[in-house]
Amino acid sequence: MNPASRRSLTAILSALPAEQHGLLEQLQGARKQTVAGRDFWLGDLHGQHVALGLSRIGKVSATLTAAVLIGHLGASRIVFTGVAGGLAPGVKVGDVVVAHDFIQHDLDASPLFPRYEVPLYGRSRFPCDPTLTALLTQAAGRALAGSNQVVSPLLAGAQVHCGLIASGDRFVSSANESKHLQAALQDAGHTALAVEMEGAAVAQVCADYGVAFAAMRTISDRADDTAHIDFPTFVAEVASRYAQRIMDELVRSLPEPA
Ligand code: ADE
Repeated sequence: MNPASRRSLTAILSALPAEQHGLLEQLQGARKQTVAGRDFWLGDLHGQHVALGLSRIGKVSATLTAAVLIGHLGASRIVFTGVAGGLAPGVKVGDVVVAHDFIQHDLDASPLFPRYEVPLYGRSRFPCDPTLTALLTQAAGRALAGSNQVVSPLLAGAQVHCGLIASGDRFVSSANESKHLQAALQDAGHTALAVEMEGAAVAQVCADYGVAFAAMRTISDRADDTAHIDFPTFVAEVASRYAQRIMDELVRSLPEPA
């Protein structure tokens, strides 16, 4: 890999094809590269050299995708878009959560290590890059202000939150599970705003490589008994449009490639 290209490639990772679709349509000079059975699209977006990739679902798949983006393609920063279930009160369907940091809610090597701690790292939370996260938060604010009524009148008043996101290999689909997950995290001093299935893995890979990472999740459900009903429609009709608008705003605001 060429270290010079590492400095200038921005990877935009989406969880699902529907979220990538709009960005792919705008990509100039798009060329496909396949690594480890994954298709990546490289090209230019608003003057930035970008790679579009799909994380697939779950921590293992997302880990591999992130490692390929950095190790094979030379990405120097990764921005992750996707959906999540709202956990904290006040985090509503249609809101956007920008990650401040991530935790794996299903990681438990106790009693050898404290609950949630990633063994041999001495920590349970992996922070996102502050500068990229600030740009992403601003981009989300601008995109929501300009698009709620256009995407759906039901989303008027949607908010942007910034905080801890919990990841785990489980789609949380009952109010009971959601309550227990939140309470257990809270007991250990972690207030999570939302739950999803990949972000903490990508955050850890980026930390290991020293690559800047930021992530945003549109809230598709409240991780309760109706989560599975809300999910597919929401991704197709709302989250994919949010992702496109927010990424559009973000890429336009990124500093010139080094
Ligand atoms: N992604 C979107 N909603 C989710 C949920 N309820 N649980 C896990 N991941 C999700």
